Amino acid sequence: MLDELQKLVESARREIPLAGDRDAAEALRIRYLGKKGELSLLLRGMGKVPTADRPAVGAAVNSAKEEIEKLIDGALQQGQRAALEAELRAPPLDVTLPGRRLAARGHRHPVSAALDDVVEILARMGYEVAEGPEVELDFYNFEALNIPPNHPAREMQDTFYVDSAKRVQAPVLLRTHTSPVQIRTMLARKPPLRICSPGKVYRRDDDPTHTPMFHQIEVLCIDKDITFGDLKGTLEAFVQAFFGKSFRTRLRPSYFPFVEPGAEVDITCTLCLGKGCRTCKRTGFIEVLGAGMVHPRVLANVGYDPEEVSGFAFGCGVDRLAMLRSGIDDLRLVFENDLRFLEQL
Ligand code: DAH
Repeated sequence: MLDELQKLVESARREIPLAGDRDAAEALRIRYLGKKGELSLLLRGMGKVPTADRPAVGAAVNSAKEEIEKLIDGALQQGQRAALEAELRAPPLDVTLPGRRLAARGHRHPVSAALDDVVEILARMGYEVAEGPEVELDFYNFEALNIPPNHPAREMQDTFYVDSAKRVQAPVLLRTHTSPVQIRTMLARKPPLRICSPGKVYRRDDDPTHTPMFHQIEVLCIDKDITFGDLKGTLEAFVQAFFGKSFRTRLRPSYFPFVEPGAEVDITCTLCLGKGCRTCKRTGFIEVLGAGMVHPRVLANVGYDPEEVSGFAFGCGVDRLAMLRSGIDDLRLVFENDLRFLEQL
């Protein structure tokens, strides 16, 4: 028995240090010390050992077991060290490698960007946003703005009518401009007012500079003693904030039924910066918006006293602002949503 024990220990001394890694060391532990391992097998012969020899044999078994355990622990540690060393030898992570590109990133549509900028500029000047419906009543879109049925100004703003039985008495239409929001806001609130109203408008138009749907922003300021000078100063501040400090404004007398006096507002040509080119017909200026002092009849229509308060209004095509700022020459491109076009902006 002692001989066999000696042989077992010797074979363990040879074999275990050769275990290459943790798994091999673990397998050897099971082979030598496991429940059905070599040592257990040997112990089955204990019954045949004479009683007098048993303490000595028992002590030898214990020390053999201890030695084998130590050998295995050593092999395990050795395996762990080897694994760590292998990891350290492996090529390190190269943080200077160029990263993988993210999937294409989107951006705001040029018209949305122009609209956000316009609203932000006006907000800084004390204007709040007011909204109105795109499907509008004739009353707000025309009548209350001093455009009665059969008024020639309706000719320029032909639009889409919503079919309904009541249509003849109270036509329902897609609004042709954002000006009806002036009426809705004034009817709902008392002066003073400083509002702007961005949104979609519709007309029966379709050519390189006109689409059936486009965007406008309306600006309305009502208070005591508002003058044409306030209008001009506001327009100039607005144009310079949007296009740049070097941009100038020019007002030409014009007619809009809901203002008196009315003006068309030109700004320095964005293409030639005022030198004169084909786009501005050599004048150095291009038209961008309509403006004027709110007509006393419009103030009366909403129950304001034209002797008490006055105000100015202007309305502006946002798509046109975006086109001028980005140098786009065909408005239809803006709404086709072709990424090859939009990605360039
Ligand atoms: N609503 C006009 C249009 O769409 C633009 C306009 C002109 C708005 C003069 C105004 C204004 O507020 O005062 O053609």
